[in-house]
Amino acid sequence: MKIAILPGDGIGKEVIPVAFDMLRLILPGAELVQVDVGYERFRREGKAMTEEDIDLVRSCDCVLFGAITTPPKRDYRSVILTLRSELGLYANIRPFKSSAISPFKVDFTIYRENSEDLYLGLEDVTEDEVRSTRVITKKASERIARMACKNPGLKKLTIVHKANVLKSCALFRDCCIEVAEGLMVPYEEMLVDAMAYNLIRCPSRYDTIVTTNLFGDILSDEAAALIGGLGLSPSANIGDKYALFEPVHGSAPDIAGKDVANPIAAVLSTKMLLEWAGKREEAEKVQRAVDTILQERIFTPDLGGIYKTSDVKHSLLKLIEAE
Ligand code: NAI
Ligand code: MG
Repeated sequence: MKIAILPGDGIGKEVIPVAFDMLRLILPGAELVQVDVGYERFRREGKAMTEEDIDLVRSCDCVLFGAITTPPKRDYRSVILTLRSELGLYANIRPFKSSAISPFKVDFTIYRENSEDLYLGLEDVTEDEVRSTRVITKKASERIARMACKNPGLKKLTIVHKANVLKSCALFRDCCIEVAEGLMVPYEEMLVDAMAYNLIRCPSRYDTIVTTNLFGDILSDEAAALIGGLGLSPSANIGDKYALFEPVHGSAPDIAGKDVANPIAAVLSTKMLLEWAGKREEAEKVQRAVDTILQERIFTPDLGGIYKTSDVKHSLLKLIEAE
């Protein structure tokens, strides 16, 4: 198995090495191919990612990605958005499951449409006005709805939209309902503002949420707060043949370079990679090690602890070695 490792920028360069060392222990036969992409490279070399980089990534079976900095500039395109579209990764799957330390009892997954909406980059930029085009298609909406309906933990599908205002959302809603009815999956629908409210008010009511790209982006950071923070929240970007795994968080410039970033989101993203690759036993090993670290309160500062990224790494590798 050949895995592309893209640490990216900021804390991506601190949390991915933890996952990298863990992977070397857990999958000694895997070939790990490191590729440097991101804004730091752009500033050094004028390019955030080249065609050759994308070809190299494509030659691997899947990707482990850290995080990249995307400056809010009108002429810069995000590396992760380029990768998601180049690699056909149309489903962004984000599980949120309470651990021993979570403030709430929750266990739900957000299925975020990952290929269209306002993230297509269709933006007409002039000095005085910018028009961003939102595209929602039947094909992409049905595809993400079908994937959400296959969630093993599904009891009821919650379809999140803003169809009372946006025609594009009405299409998304109709497609999701048609798929759910076709597969005889129980469903409800919810306007995105009400969903933002209810996720805080009664998060344990949900198990499978399907929504459009921008709404899924926002709701998943909110959901991360329910389980203890972005430092604990992994994700998978899935296509038909290829997949990319990354923590939900970004490059966190406010804490980068201090050895305090929580690597668990990156480690749990690696667990999702192992599951995707059919390595169930290895994935369970990772989960057990993470559970022990949390039970033993080996916490980085985001969880109220005093431990460093490197401390968590040492504990993790020891636990994996001892298995
Ligand atoms: P962020 O997710 O990087 O950070 C938000 C807050 O959470 C910060 O206070 C940060 O310190 C904290 N945090 C995040 N991950 C953490 C971890 N593992 N351990 C401890 N604390 C953690 O979001 P922000 O600050 O809005 O964005 C920073 C940069 O990251 C921007 O350039 C943005 O475009 C980019 N970004 C990239 C993403 C990606 O690569 N997929 C996703 C989100 C943002
Ligand atoms: Mg986000």
